[in-house]
Amino acid sequence: MGKLWEKKTKPDPHVIKFTVGKDYILDQRLVKYDCLCSIAHAKMLNRISVLSEDELLGIVKVLKEIMELDKEGKFKIEIQDEDSHTKIENFLVQKLGDVGKKIHTGRSRNDQVLCALRLYYKDELKEIEKLVNSLIASIKDFVERYKKVKIPGFTHTRKAMVSSIKLWGESFIEALRDDLKILKSTFNLIDQSPLGTGAGYGIPVLKIDRNYTKKLLGFKRVQRNPMYVQNSRGKFEGEILSALSMIMYDVNKLSSDIIFFSMGDMGIFKIPEEFTTGSSIMPHKKNPDVFEIARSKYSKILSLEMRVKMVPLNLISGYHRDLQETKEIVFEGFDTVKETLSVISKVVKKLKVNKERAKELLTGELFATEQVYKLVKNGVPFREAYKIIKEKYS
Ligand code: ARG
Repeated sequence: MGKLWEKKTKPDPHVIKFTVGKDYILDQRLVKYDCLCSIAHAKMLNRISVLSEDELLGIVKVLKEIMELDKEGKFKIEIQDEDSHTKIENFLVQKLGDVGKKIHTGRSRNDQVLCALRLYYKDELKEIEKLVNSLIASIKDFVERYKKVKIPGFTHTRKAMVSSIKLWGESFIEALRDDLKILKSTFNLIDQSPLGTGAGYGIPVLKIDRNYTKKLLGFKRVQRNPMYVQNSRGKFEGEILSALSMIMYDVNKLSSDIIFFSMGDMGIFKIPEEFTTGSSIMPHKKNPDVFEIARSKYSKILSLEMRVKMVPLNLISGYHRDLQETKEIVFEGFDTVKETLSVISKVVKKLKVNKERAKELLTGELFATEQVYKLVKNGVPFREAYKIIKEKYS
């Protein structure tokens, strides 16, 4: 079966290949969500008497069959199918004939793709929330094991004041908790139903019940203005990547710290050997590649954030095929963050501290500020006290 927009003239295959791009591969993850949206849409069409009870049952049965096939990896979208929406509708028509041809009543692929994407985003955001929580749990575990250990604190990469494993670990726990709040607010923004807005100008003639599909799909609210629905594609994706980049900001710093505290001359942290990598020429090396790669992913996410925000730049209102390009960027963002979080939580959980080495490194100058404040407590003016102690370290 052909395209949903078949014309008299056959399209040039080169143009099809170019415009479909990787969409037929990327859309594989949307099949399940597209079916869920279609089930809700069909139920709504039945409610407004566009589909009979029997027609609805038939459609829902086939959509569930597609979801099953997809789970088993047997619903493969091919390049000639163009996208998940076309493949699913063609399958419905193949199985149900004219009844299948009714499913696209009252919608466009423009609101359909947004509906599937948003359900998918919501699941991914929930998954990432879980992974952030498990990183928090790993850090807590680490802090619990070594909470009494004091370590040097640094500013300008030079010894500054006394710090501790507790202070260090809890800084990341608090940071990641802030990231969870950001994730929640992003989730809340995404949680709006676009379904029933058609191509961006609403559905003429039919009285579509947008509230009903919203409820069936578990969206918090309906996104009202049909044109804004289209205009928010790219904007919402930008928001997602911005939330992800906040998480990666903290992962980046956590990784750099672990690399620094575990380097040979420091030797406070020890990354268990199974999580280090070797060198092909230097037999003694145990490298912290896992944290180097994790650290580098921050710049990747930042660049994805910039890329996704650039796609809608200067477009006039409404749908443009450019927007399809946001899909790959966001998917890559989700995959990268999920993989990074899951590997580093595993390693952080097993991270060790060399307590003797930490003690050795607590040298006198780290206590200089403390000595200043002891004098201050005894009534010496701060600047005076500072000068007295400074003499000792000049
Ligand atoms: N694959 C398309 C996308 O992601 C689906 C929507 C197509 N709409 C259209 N008017 N060509 O944007």
